[in-house]
Amino acid sequence: MCGIVGVIGIEPAAPLLLEALRRLEYRGYDSAGIATLLGNGIARRRAPGKLGNLAAELERDPLPGVVGIGHTRWATHGAPTQRNAHPHGTPRVSVVHNGIIENHAELRAELEAQGQVFETETDTETVAQLVDLHLQNGLEPVEAARRAFGRLEGAYALAMVFAGHPELMVGAQHGAPLAVGFGETAMYLGSDSLALAPMTRRIAYMQDGDWTVVTREGAAFFGPSGQAVNREVRLTVQTGAVVGKDGYRHFMEKELHEHPAAIGQTLARMLDPATRSVLLPTLPFDWAKVPRMTIAACGSTYFAGLAGRHWMEELARLPTDIDYASELRYRKPPMSKGGLGLLVSQSGETADTLAALRFLRGAGQHVVSVVNVPESTMARESDVVLETVAGPEIGVASTKAFTAQLTVLACLAVGAARARGTISAEREAALVAALLELPSKAGEVLANAAPIQRLAERMAEARDVLCLGRGACHAIALEAALKLKEICYIHAEGYAAGEMKHGPIALIDRQVPILAIVPSGPLFEKTASNVQEAGARGGQVVVLSDAAGCAKLQSISAEVIELPTVDPFVAPVLHAIAAQMLAYHTAVLRGTDVDQPRNLAKSVTVE
Ligand code: G6P
Repeated sequence: MCGIVGVIGIEPAAPLLLEALRRLEYRGYDSAGIATLLGNGIARRRAPGKLGNLAAELERDPLPGVVGIGHTRWATHGAPTQRNAHPHGTPRVSVVHNGIIENHAELRAELEAQGQVFETETDTETVAQLVDLHLQNGLEPVEAARRAFGRLEGAYALAMVFAGHPELMVGAQHGAPLAVGFGETAMYLGSDSLALAPMTRRIAYMQDGDWTVVTREGAAFFGPSGQAVNREVRLTVQTGAVVGKDGYRHFMEKELHEHPAAIGQTLARMLDPATRSVLLPTLPFDWAKVPRMTIAACGSTYFAGLAGRHWMEELARLPTDIDYASELRYRKPPMSKGGLGLLVSQSGETADTLAALRFLRGAGQHVVSVVNVPESTMARESDVVLETVAGPEIGVASTKAFTAQLTVLACLAVGAARARGTISAEREAALVAALLELPSKAGEVLANAAPIQRLAERMAEARDVLCLGRGACHAIALEAALKLKEICYIHAEGYAAGEMKHGPIALIDRQVPILAIVPSGPLFEKTASNVQEAGARGGQVVVLSDAAGCAKLQSISAEVIELPTVDPFVAPVLHAIAAQMLAYHTAVLRGTDVDQPRNLAKSVTVE
């Protein structure tokens, strides 16, 4: 998945494109490139690695021109080299692409047989070569592009410019988002409104199958069979403001410190502190009649969903399934109509989660999404949106968005429980009171970083780590392990604590730290037994718990980290923050690229 942008205006295009790419780097940062129209030709600059390399290249060798396209890449087909960096093209056309052209091999063979000469191994180049062949055969650019779109299979957002046509840019959307920006003296294409916001806040979102012909004066939209369609221009809530690190070393560190605000702002949308009750938006269904809920999500967000399932079943007694969106979309389980499909996603753009949303809708489910980007595709395609109010999250590893997701899911479970009559008003008030404590307790966890920093020194030496937890804290153990993998490059496994004896216990020796997420509560004694079992086999158990839990486990643990005492219902949220802090400090000690770890991207818009 990649970020794409295009501009057709009167000011130099390269600085605008570069600035937009900075805001799209969350989509990929393997390589980047820009092409502009120059005279009757096309010029481009491309560089492997982070966007800074392209910026340096442009400084060395500036690129004039007022019409251009840009791309930041997360490699799928072809290594992240300069040669494979977008834009791709021929002397006649230049293309940037987000997605995967699935029939690229077949198209390539066909085009090569007709004499087209490819420069790269990328799937994207087939689009450029296809358009190029049509141009050579005398078609006008718009018709050449339209015919090419008709041959493409897979997912794509595309932007292209044509040599000798400084009044024209063509874009298309099919399974990957593309927005059109309307400026005073310029028009834009971009993967999202965030990229376009510094240039214009007037945005039209395309729909799947749409393609657009953009000139300096405006844009015309067409459906798959070429019929003109209307796409509303709205004012985006995104601002052009640059999100900075505010003096922190990394975005991740800054975003860790934004936990209290993210949780607090999210709670403010979901709770009424005066009545100690949950405020749910008007939902197009009756909770009492919902037979089943199905959650779909990816990555860390999936683990937030896993905790959500636990709460939903425990409190609201609502049968709840959860699946990785990438599995659900192809497993296509049979579903009774009238169920609830819950999609959870920070970006609201993850390709698999979006596909799961569409599957759930097709299967007759009510569609509710929990997203952090209110204008995202998922938000736009949902019946109801429950917003996480975490603000922009730049670090690739999710932090505050994850706890904001937990917050929404916890509130949703309490609200559903009340609506289904499975908890009393008193119990609701007690749970709401526990939730309202979270921002200040999160602040306490952050303020007590020293023991976590010390523990990070032990973790930084580890090659393998086991993370254990039960109930909702099983989800946090999985999240802790994922964080150690993604930003520390440490092999870590998250396990349901009771499962340890069915395999992972064989791994235990003094070299494998065991991180036990074990707050006081109904499952404490059970997890404590698993800590004993690990300790008895020489395992170096590190316990995350509250004061009472730490006191009980101190003697059998290598180390204990004490977190504030809270209602067991909300303890997983605080333990998640501690686990993220541990991963952060471990990553810093190991010297990894914390905000942009290798091979990852923040928003995964390919499947
Ligand atoms: C990527 C990110 C993760 C995130 C996952 C799902 O893998 O690196 O941090 O949890 O995508 O993203 P979403 O935007 O759907 O929450």
